[in-house]
Amino acid sequence: MNARIELVVATVDDAVPGIRSLALAHPDGDRLPSFTPGSHLVLDVPAGEGRPRRAANAYSLTGESSDPRHYTISVLRCAPAAEGGSACGGSAWVHGLTVGDRVTATPPRSAFAPIHLATRHLLVGAGIGITPLLSHLRSHVRWGRDAELVYLFRDGHGAHVDELKELGGDRVTFLADRAGLAEDLAVRLADQPLGTHLYTCGPAGFMDAVVDLATELGWPSSRVHLEPFGVAALDPGDPFTVGVAGQVLEVPSGTSLLEALEDAGHVVPNLCRQGVCGECRVDVAPGSSPVLHRDLFLDEETRGAGDCLMACVSRAVPAADGRAHLEVTL
Ligand code: FES
Repeated sequence: MNARIELVVATVDDAVPGIRSLALAHPDGDRLPSFTPGSHLVLDVPAGEGRPRRAANAYSLTGESSDPRHYTISVLRCAPAAEGGSACGGSAWVHGLTVGDRVTATPPRSAFAPIHLATRHLLVGAGIGITPLLSHLRSHVRWGRDAELVYLFRDGHGAHVDELKELGGDRVTFLADRAGLAEDLAVRLADQPLGTHLYTCGPAGFMDAVVDLATELGWPSSRVHLEPFGVAALDPGDPFTVGVAGQVLEVPSGTSLLEALEDAGHVVPNLCRQGVCGECRVDVAPGSSPVLHRDLFLDEETRGAGDCLMACVSRAVPAADGRAHLEVTL
């Protein structure tokens, strides 16, 4: 189990329909640990009201990252799955919190940090995907870095709009329709100085459109950075095999390594099953195929070492002949 911190709900803001912003404070009023801009907090979501088991949900931190008084998050209330909503359990629980409630979380963790060597930062967000980009913009303004932000949202449903105006001034462009965004980005992406990095966060279809346009215009993938919303945005992946405790198991497309291990009777600690909590980490032996990391937990250095993965979301990368195999220890 990873270390947890206890926090208390200090303020609740429901000014934007369907979006709740919370400020979470240290129970004793102390300052909280600093975090890297673009970090997220993983909140423990207790079982209850349609949630049969405890879970963990990741929410981007929107506030001051240096020596903060509060960790602030903004959470969109998702429609229940039965009404066509996405798999974002826990949002209803967050929307039920009130001032004074206590919550537990893992400390902030970053998988979407600004690239310090970038000469310019182009931030493109939609809907609630503005949250990690607000954190980026805040740090760029503070440190005097060259940055601009484009935010697409439905009229009346934009989060942090006044804050973005105040913070970014004319560096921020607000757009209300996808056609306008396509036109704007076609110009903006074609006219950036060398060394600019692009960061995008929003619904999967939106991010795909931004990345496709950037790719068409010749942006290398190393300068394009995405913050997915978790497992709902992941594809089923290629099949692979896994060796564990003398057994070889098949992991079909659409089945996670975690599910394959559980189906074979192995016990793997887990909590979020979305690649955010870090509970389901397993060791990968040398000689295995490369790992396709799809979690929000491991840092770049650990990923580069290639000796572990998050079994709930990550997979093996197939070789040219289609074979992919991981040897793991639990
Ligand atoms: S169960 Fe949380 S990262 Fe896999």
